Order: sequence, then structure tokens, then C-alpha cells
Amino acid sequence: MIVHGKEFETYINYQRVSERINEIAERINIDYADKTPLFIGVLNGVFMFAADLLKEISLPVEISFVKFSSYKDTTSTGNIRKLIGLRENIKDLDIIIMEDIIDTGNTIAHVIEMLQEFEPRSVEIATLLLKPDVFKKNIPLKYVGFSIPNKFVIGYGLDYNGLGRNLKDIYQLKDL
Ligand code: IMP
Ligand code: MG
Repeated sequence: MIVHGKEFETYINYQRVSERINEIAERINIDYADKTPLFIGVLNGVFMFAADLLKEISLPVEISFVKFSSYKDTTSTGNIRKLIGLRENIKDLDIIIMEDIIDTGNTIAHVIEMLQEFEPRSVEIATLLLKPDVFKKNIPLKYVGFSIPNKFVIGYGLDYNGLGRNLKDIYQLKDL
């Protein structure tokens, strides 16, 4: 598979992804048995994971999505992006943030920081992929689909410069 001139090979096929997501959903159904959590997905990459995960959740849930605006705040560090899309009053809610992949953890740290301001009752994270060799933050990740090596992946929502999000399987950049 060639994307933007780079070669990618199949890494995790959709069947394995799907089986793992079902396991995570089962755990969430148990952990939140008496609750009505609010799932918040971080767009764009999370759209496939969110859809497949939520179809297996048997709890009463609310669902929302946030996105980082491409607008960069030049008045401060020059690299602070604004989180947009949160409309709900999240005070005292049990929140599960959904991410496609956690790499450095900068994104998820930023999302958590923004949400904490509104005093939710609890915040947990569900990420399909994690690069543990890169992630060095002291943030507990409750639900992790797959821990993967520090190699670039695409497919199942993840892109390489805009392409590859529609691919059903997850692909890894091939070594030269
Ligand atoms: P972090 O802030 O470094 O944790 O990066 C998180 C974001 O970077 C993800 O939500 C993705 O959008 C992007 N990202 C990180 N690693 C990859 C990858 O291997 N493939 C595609 N996107 C990635
Ligand atoms: Mg993302």
C-alpha cells in the first residue's frame, strides 16, 4: 500500500481490532454498570474506533466529540490550539475520553486539562493504540487496545497527511 509515496504494510487487521474493541466494551459495561457516562471522542482520527466501541456499549450513554481548532494562539507560546465542540455541561459527569492513538500524550494531557476545569466526577481514557516507548506522562490510561512500537501507522481513522483514514485495517510504515 503506497500513500504519499511511502510504503505501508498491514499491521493489525480489522478482525483483531474488532475483537479487541469488544473486550474493551465488555470491561466498560462492567466498570460503569450503575452509571451513565459521557463518551467524548477526539476528532478526526477517533471516528472509526468510537463507532465500533459504542455499538458494543450496553449502558445508557451520552456521546460527544471535540476537536482541536487549526487556529493557533500566537499571543502565548504560539502553539496552543483551542479545543472546540464541547457543548455539554460536564459537571459531576463520568467521562470516558476516546482517542485513536496516544503518542507523546501531549494531546490527551491537553484535553484532560481543559475538561478538569468543568469539574467532572471522573475522567478515564480509552485509546485504541498506545506507543509506550514515546508516552512518558504520568496519566493513567484505563483502556488500551494495543501497545505498539514507535512506528508510524495509518488506517482505521488514522491518517498520513490527510490520507488513509478510510482504510479498514491498520497499516504500519514499512522499514526501508
Ligand atoms: P500525541 O499528542 O503525541 O499523543 O499525538 C496524538 C495525535 O498524533 C494522535 O491523535 C494522532 O492524530 C497523531 N499521531 C500520533 N502518532 C500517529 C501515527 O502513528 N499515525 C497517525 N497519527 C498519529
Ligand atoms: Mg487523534
